[in-house]
Amino acid sequence: MYRVPRGTSDILPEEQASWRYIEQKVANVCQLYGYERIDAPTFEDSQLFSRSAGEGTDIVEKEMYTFQDKGGNKITLRPEGTAPVCRAYLEHGMHNLPQPVKLYYIASIFRYERPQAGRYRQHYQFGYEAIGDDDPALDAEVIDMAWQFFLSLGLQNLSLQLNSIGCKQCRPQYLARLKDYYVNYTRQLCPDCKTRLNRNPLRLLDCKKPSCQKIANSAPRSIDYLCPQCDEHFNQLKKYLDLLALPFVVNHCLVRGLDYYTRTVFEIQPEAEGAQSTVGGGGRYDDLIEELGGKPTPAIGFAAGIERIILNLKRQNISVPALPRPQVFIAYVGNEARGEAIKLASTLRRAGIGVIEAIGTKSLKAQLRQANTFGAHHTVIIGEQEIKSGTVILRDMTTAEQKTVPISELEGLLK
Ligand code: HAM
Repeated sequence: MYRVPRGTSDILPEEQASWRYIEQKVANVCQLYGYERIDAPTFEDSQLFSRSAGEGTDIVEKEMYTFQDKGGNKITLRPEGTAPVCRAYLEHGMHNLPQPVKLYYIASIFRYERPQAGRYRQHYQFGYEAIGDDDPALDAEVIDMAWQFFLSLGLQNLSLQLNSIGCKQCRPQYLARLKDYYVNYTRQLCPDCKTRLNRNPLRLLDCKKPSCQKIANSAPRSIDYLCPQCDEHFNQLKKYLDLLALPFVVNHCLVRGLDYYTRTVFEIQPEAEGAQSTVGGGGRYDDLIEELGGKPTPAIGFAAGIERIILNLKRQNISVPALPRPQVFIAYVGNEARGEAIKLASTLRRAGIGVIEAIGTKSLKAQLRQANTFGAHHTVIIGEQEIKSGTVILRDMTTAEQKTVPISELEGLLK
């Protein structure tokens, strides 16, 4: 027996209602905030990701699905959605449009991770990017949009974690201080953190191991080392978030898992589970477009994992509207009636009425049972007698009431 590859899953028909519901909420919120949809390819030139996410990150070092195609090109299945949007922004000359350019996507994401609840090797993200302005009001808008999106799904008990990790001017001083601090704790650090100390010290703050977290809690804070511009930016942002009454918490250990971030970083976490099960995160990446070959272009964005959203909807017992299904079943008795049933089903569908046809040669009783399992509201029954008189029998499946109606009136009655 073949099975789905480890860390992936089938989205079965009974789960589709949640997916469609979320997609619809995504479309609503994006329309409200003026974001337009973009769909980039599933794979890109590998370098796009290694340059943007950062060589020292887990994503680039351990998690990318990279291969050589038959033309010898090095290809990577997208491990995140921001770099492809930036690539598209540059490739299609979007810097000539009024800025900021606001784009959103729903896309499959591939990361070779150790699968566990809420962590997959293929997952889906809803994400959005606002490219072309560094106004903290844009940061506030992007954060507000994420918050309103979760509220619109009815999710509760979420916490909004915020931090500023500075820019390329002020961050080196902070990193030096951080390293100095950590050198005293080298022996207590987990093996991963020992490597991070030299390669990517910021990520030390992000380690989920309790012993490392204890050390991180007393580490120097990035906000104490911001240059005056970054400091002002962060203060303005906090002021705007207060204006919007968004209940943010400044978290000095929040640093995110991708290297392109500058200044604002934020995450939305279920209060009970914390950082392990973050439902969404984002931040500013003011240097990324330039890094990818464009002019200096500040930007900010956010992405949320759809499987994790669904997990939280389930945990909070939030039900989603069922998807529409055909409500009419057509049953027949006898061979001649079968041809009529086929024609009638087609006529009704063309008139926009969803119909399920009895397939095969079952008894009328068995067909009615089938109608029930499909959840049909009405069954239309055709037999020889009905063909002769140009009528059908219309059965209400809840009350089992039946009446004979002229076939010419059926469409109107069903509608
Ligand atoms: P990220 O935090 O790596 O950010 O991923 C965003 C969200 O995707 C996470 O908060 C989580 O809900 C979900 N997620 C990540 N990995 C997995 C996984 N293995 N299985 C299930 N869900 C997962 C980014 O990817 C950035 N591109 C976000 C961004 C947009 N920053 C600026 N613009």
